[in-house]
Formats: sequence, structure tokens, C-alpha cells
Amino acid sequence: MRVIAIANQKGGCGKTTTAVNLSACLAQLKKNVLLIDLDPQGHATLGLNVKPQELSKTMYNVLTPSTQSKARLDEIIIPITEKLDLAPANIMLSAIEQELSGKPEREAKLMQAISLMVTSKTYDYVIIDCSPSLGLLTFNGLRASNELISPVETGFYSLHGISRLLEIVKLISKQLNCKIQVNALVTMFDRRTKFSHEVKEEIGKYFSGCVYKTLINNNVKLKEASSYGLPVITYNKRCRGAEDYTMLAKEVVAQEKAKKTVNVAAQAKEAQNQKQENNAVAPTTPQASVAKKGAVFTFYAEDAKHVGIAGDFNDWVSSTQEQMENIEKGVWARVLHLDPGKYQYKFVVDGKWIIDPKNPKIERDLSGNVNSLLEIK
Ligand SMILES: Nc1ncnc2c1ncn2[C@@H]1O[C@H](COP(=O)(O)OP(=O)(O)O)[C@@H](O)[C@H]1O
Ligand SMILES: [Mg+2]
Repeated sequence: MRVIAIANQKGGCGKTTTAVNLSACLAQLKKNVLLIDLDPQGHATLGLNVKPQELSKTMYNVLTPSTQSKARLDEIIIPITEKLDLAPANIMLSAIEQELSGKPEREAKLMQAISLMVTSKTYDYVIIDCSPSLGLLTFNGLRASNELISPVETGFYSLHGISRLLEIVKLISKQLNCKIQVNALVTMFDRRTKFSHEVKEEIGKYFSGCVYKTLINNNVKLKEASSYGLPVITYNKRCRGAEDYTMLAKEVVAQEKAKKTVNVAAQAKEAQNQKQENNAVAPTTPQASVAKKGAVFTFYAEDAKHVGIAGDFNDWVSSTQEQMENIEKGVWARVLHLDPGKYQYKFVVDGKWIIDPKNPKIERDLSGNVNSLLEIK
């Protein structure tokens, strides 16, 4: 059984859309799937046309420490199709953080609930739709999982906070002494803009290349399907969104085979490392290369004709090379690849020099001019 958390503390990046549609597409591929809604907003529940406010038993009952209201996971499950089941949630779930505070093993409640489930069905996949926070519920989701899919949209601030999520995954892996396999999923991709392609590259770097090949394109049918409480393959099986999520499900299934090969390679590597340690030889680490990192700049100027960026990194010359791209009405964006360090910069909007209104960090240069300050670590 593969337990996969869909998490990213940023709201609106496509977690629920991915959880619902990946689950439905895996079920279409004849896999037994349990979708667990771990968000008090109950969006995954609504997305499968189950009314959260009408439920008497939900994930709240599974996770609560109160013996009176407690239920087993299998007792709250609602069958959606022959292959797809739902463990629903509603607003009650928001009380859990407080109810579990100070309780021992409070991050392990979901993991325990999954292992104590009594069903005649063996699930091939348990997919967990996490809430947009890094609180106790998401901790429970990650702790119960052996994999994490982190949807990252190709928009502004999309990578904001990702390092924190990855740190937490590392921490949990260490606590559990077992690795959680992390993969990013690029969502809301817009093929037409250079910016989308640039952000996609950055996502690859943040996740050390662990990114699904399948890209989830921007597709309004995904939004429509969820408003009807249907997975997109049921709503419109020929649309782009249905194709994308079907492809993703196939890629997820194909990982099983790949994993076996990787495991063999990892074991060999581990054995080699062990041998080196035993021989008291310093491990051979790759040459520490100071990698350039991508910085995403965005600026809003509805009536501007040209927006550029100038700073320490380009000797304050706003040449055509540093022009920003007008990716949608009024929105200008640009990714620059910079070495770690501190940089002062300004936007050049139709020849006018302006500090970055979204960046509170400023610094004066030697001539006393105020510039925006960016630090790449
Ligand atoms: N690929 C996509 N194309 C267009 N709209 C999308 C796409 N993915 C998600 N959406 C829409 O964006 C909104 C936020 O998505 P959702 O999956 O609810 O995000 P999260 O669960 O991360 O908060 C929803 O209205 C959803 O229908
Ligand atoms: Mg959601």
C-alpha cells in the first residue's frame, strides 16, 4: 500500500484538485484507492459531491482523543465508486489541533488509524489531501505517508515556503528513520509564457530534480468539474485536465517499477558508504559548487510599456536582456539566476526607477539612493 500525502502549505496551488483527480484516475486504472480528506474546509469531500455539513462521522471522529466520539477509519468511509472510497472531513476537524495538544504521539494519530483499519478491501493507494498549513493535521498527514506529492503552481510566490516544508519532511523522516519520497508536481502550467517555463526550472532545482514529468496545465474544466462535485474524468474525459491527470496516475503507477531498481542502486550505494565509514576514509562528497539560484521578480504595472530590472547583478544597466515579460495584463515577471549573496536592485518602468513595492527590505547605496535588497542564500 502506498500512502501519499498531497501537501504544500500554500493555499490554491492545486492540492485538492490533485488529490481528487489523481485518486479518480488511479481508480480508473483499476487500483483500490482511499482518499482521506485532512482539511477542515472539506474541499475534497465536496469535490466528490458529498455534503460535509450533512455528515455524522468524519475524520474528526477518527482523530479525536475523546473515547465517546471516537470511530475507526473504516467506520467513516463512504464508497464513491467500486474502486474509490472517501474518508470525509468537515469543519469539525479544525478542533483537533486543540484537542490533541499536549497528548502523547499526537502526530502519529493518522498513521495509527490507517494501520488499525478493518476492511475486506486492500487499498493499493491511500491519498491524503492536506490543509494549507504546517500544523498538526499536516504533520499527521506526512507522518502517515511514505510519499509526498507537493503541487507547485507556476505563479508568483509559488516557491515561497517550500524550503520549510522540505525541512519538516526531513525532520519527520529522521524521527521515523525512514525516508519520505518527495516529488513536486507542476500545476496550473501555462505553456505560452516564458515565465511558466522558468518557474518550472526553479521547481526542479528546489526539489533536486524530483519532479513529475507530467505537467498539469491550466484548464478551466478542472475548476468546472470540482464545482459539480465530479472528478474531471467523469465530467469531461477528453479535456486537457483529464488527459493530464490520467498521465500523472500512469506515471505514479510506473514509479513502483522504477522504485525497485532505485532501491537496488541505493542499497549498493549504502553498502559502499558503510565500507568507507568502516575504513575511516572521508566520504567522497561531490565538489561543493556554489550553485546559482533563481530569483523570481514580479511587478504590477497596468499601463507600462516596458519594465526592466537593474541592480548589482547587472551593473545597474537595464538593457534589453533584463527586460521583464508581460505575462498577463499588468503583470510583469522575470527569473534571474544569481550566485548566493546580497543584491540591491530597482525596477525600471518606462524609464522610471522604482523600488520593489512588495519587498520590505531596502538599503542605501554609497550615494545615498534607496534600493530594494535581496539576499540569496
Ligand atoms: N490546473 C488547473 N487549472 C485551472 N484551475 C485549477 C487547476 N488546478 C486547480 N485549479 C483551481 O484552482 C483553485 C484552487 O485549487 P485547489 O486544488 O483547491 O487548491 P488547494 O487545495 O491547494 O488550496 C480551485 O478553484 C481549482 O478548481
Ligand atoms: Mg485544498
